[in-house]
Amino acid sequence: MKVLEITGCQELKGTIRISGAKNSSVALIPAAILADDDVTICNVPDVTDTDSLSEILEFLGADVRRASESIVINPKNIINKEIPEELSQKLRASYYFMGSLLGKYNHVEMYFPGGCSIGARPINLHLKGFEALGATVKIEDDKYIVDAKELKGATIYLDFASVGATINIMLAAVKAKGTTVIDNAAKEPEIVNVATFLNNMGAKITGAGTSRIKIEGVKELKGCFHEVIPDRIEAGTYTIAGALMGNYLKIDNIIPEHIEALTSKLIEMGVELEIGEDYLIVNRPNKYKTVTVQTQVFPGFPTDLQQPFMVLTTKCNGKSIIEETIWENRFMHVPYLNKMGANITIAGNKATIKGPTELIGSEVEATDLRAGASLVIAALTAKGKTIIHNIEHILRGYENIVEKLNDVGAKIEIKEI
Ligand code: EPU
Repeated sequence: MKVLEITGCQELKGTIRISGAKNSSVALIPAAILADDDVTICNVPDVTDTDSLSEILEFLGADVRRASESIVINPKNIINKEIPEELSQKLRASYYFMGSLLGKYNHVEMYFPGGCSIGARPINLHLKGFEALGATVKIEDDKYIVDAKELKGATIYLDFASVGATINIMLAAVKAKGTTVIDNAAKEPEIVNVATFLNNMGAKITGAGTSRIKIEGVKELKGCFHEVIPDRIEAGTYTIAGALMGNYLKIDNIIPEHIEALTSKLIEMGVELEIGEDYLIVNRPNKYKTVTVQTQVFPGFPTDLQQPFMVLTTKCNGKSIIEETIWENRFMHVPYLNKMGANITIAGNKATIKGPTELIGSEVEATDLRAGASLVIAALTAKGKTIIHNIEHILRGYENIVEKLNDVGAKIEIKEI
């Protein structure tokens, strides 16, 4: 079994280069099958979630070649067969094969997706979208069978601006007959990245990044070359680490507008930031002011940074409040932060953090991806050694986390126990 061993209190200095966005890549890889020939996607992070999707592509018969940061996918020989449970269960984003296989072949059979246990995570809005396009959905045991004689454009209103449903409906609608409109669509940068990718293939999508996306169906999609945007959550995670331990820590290759909700909170707390065109430099301050944070859909404060950010609030002088509004079960890191010396209480979806508290190295467990990231950050600031178990969650989403942190002065290693 692998664990992360981190010796805390090391100053972080130097440059961390941000990788391509995991949550874009996990949609782009399944989307590639909509093309009729070679698709090259560059800046794909080498994390286990992208590997798991490549495995599904290969299972279906696609030719997948990985070369350093790029992935070349040729979907010509794909056979549209049932995706077995052991493959779909490896990650949540396997559900993007529903939209892409349905969009290309009018039929898909796959088992319920896996992923972090951070809430009930229903996919009713995805299915409602498929049905609006003319598909029928049958659920047999845990298997979804989605079938359409023909997909026809429709106007679909999402009750919640779901990232996954917006992308899945785009994938299913891109070759449908006529025009599809998604109202109350999600506006996350990953949506724009996926729409640009599909447009590079020849799709006709407008409005991505706003709450109304319009898709005019096309007959054919060709191969293309596409670049993944920088990972805003990875960028935010390391910026938070810098706000705690940074001495001129540079976070490079970012789109600063994508993390503005975080940087504005950091400035409010008294963290020194220099924000450039595609980088930022962060320094730890002497004191942190308390804050109130509520997670929101983009451009609000991202839920995926809530857990790492909470570590920072343990250093604030007084009471901070963090409210999680997207997921029902995203406070699983809290008992471990408290074990390390934090003073956090939870009432419903609100966490109250009383600080400042000193964190002490302990043995802890990553219950999900961002809980794991928050424990890494806590360990970087803690006195002594921290051992983190279940690190497979962390490796699903952070490329070369050990190398990146060691390069800027941290003491972190993966150990086999
Ligand atoms: N929801 C429904 N029905 C649906 C879809 C969503 O009720 O059909 C609810 C969810 O249960 C949740 C809320 O809507 O309460 C938001 O879900 P959304 O669909 O927006 O999330 P997602 O697409 O499943 C993606 C990211 C998450 C990130 C959320 C919100 C991927 C693979 N995952 O999930 O990332 O938290 O958007 O921004 O892109 C992570 O990276 O750690 C992570 C969990």
